[in-house]
Amino acid sequence: MKFKQRVAIVTGAGSTRGIGREIVKIMAENQVKCVVADMNLEGARETARMVEEEYGVEALPLEVNVTDKESVGRMVEAAVEHFGRIDILCNNAGITQPVTTLDMTKEDFQKVLDVNLIGTFLCSQAVVPVMAKNHYGRIVNTSSVSGKRGGGVYGGSHYSAAKAGILGFAKALAREVVSDGITVNSVCPGAVATDIRAGISDEKEASIADGVPMGRVGTPREVAAAIAFLASDEASYITGEDIDVNGGSHMD
Ligand SMILES: NC(=O)c1ccc[n+]([C@@H]2O[C@H](COP(=O)([O-])OP(=O)(O)OC[C@H]3O[C@@H](n4cnc5c(N)ncnc54)[C@H](O)[C@@H]3O)[C@@H](O)[C@H]2O)c1
Repeated sequence: MKFKQRVAIVTGAGSTRGIGREIVKIMAENQVKCVVADMNLEGARETARMVEEEYGVEALPLEVNVTDKESVGRMVEAAVEHFGRIDILCNNAGITQPVTTLDMTKEDFQKVLDVNLIGTFLCSQAVVPVMAKNHYGRIVNTSSVSGKRGGGVYGGSHYSAAKAGILGFAKALAREVVSDGITVNSVCPGAVATDIRAGISDEKEASIADGVPMGRVGTPREVAAAIAFLASDEASYITGEDIDVNGGSHMD
């Protein structure tokens, strides 16, 4: 993968076993400097410390709440002040909740929509003017197989709605910003063993793996690799697209 002296913001990158931390690692392997953004500042600091030690590449940990426009604005300002540019945004922060539609409150629905979908909108809106100045940008969203086929193994209908919303948002934004040299794409992971699925019993986990043609859940690294490709210089002729990373559990 080729990256030319790039700077990235990765949201949701403070989780110990998460996809975000793995994205930051692959970026650092490719000398991409990252803003490691998360609501969990201690986790973000740990991710930044880890990649600086392991790869000798600078990383800036920042606390952000992606549902809050002011907080997102402060993150983008701090990123530009520190690194002078933003080339890549990975909209990766997300939450889910195992609840059926009949048991769901309006507040549940709103919260899941806010973090996954509104957060993607707010972060994208904040970085586009910065990217447009350099006539270069890569926005990559972490959607989900749940957004395509419904019935996430762990998330509810609010999660499917939010993740499907991301795919529509990405296509519309891709058309708007194509003349600014910015691409907008998404990755749709299937089940991946991270903290977002904490609380799933071993039995349930095994039955999820049995339902995947490859017979196992994915690793954060496998998802992060697809995200990194779409964020790389080489993905220059791809926009408004999404890549399934799900071991064959859904194909379209
Ligand atoms: N793990 C899976 O099975 C799976 C499958 C499909 C999609 N995804 C998506 O992958 C992405 C990464 O999830 P993960 O599995 O690594 O989970 P994770 O829980 O390990 O990481 C999510 C991170 O998002 C952060 N976050 C939550 N709300 C936030 C907010 N308001 N502002 C800023 N940060 C916030 C959390 O602190 C956490 O560090 C999410 O968008 C998730 O929906 C995960």
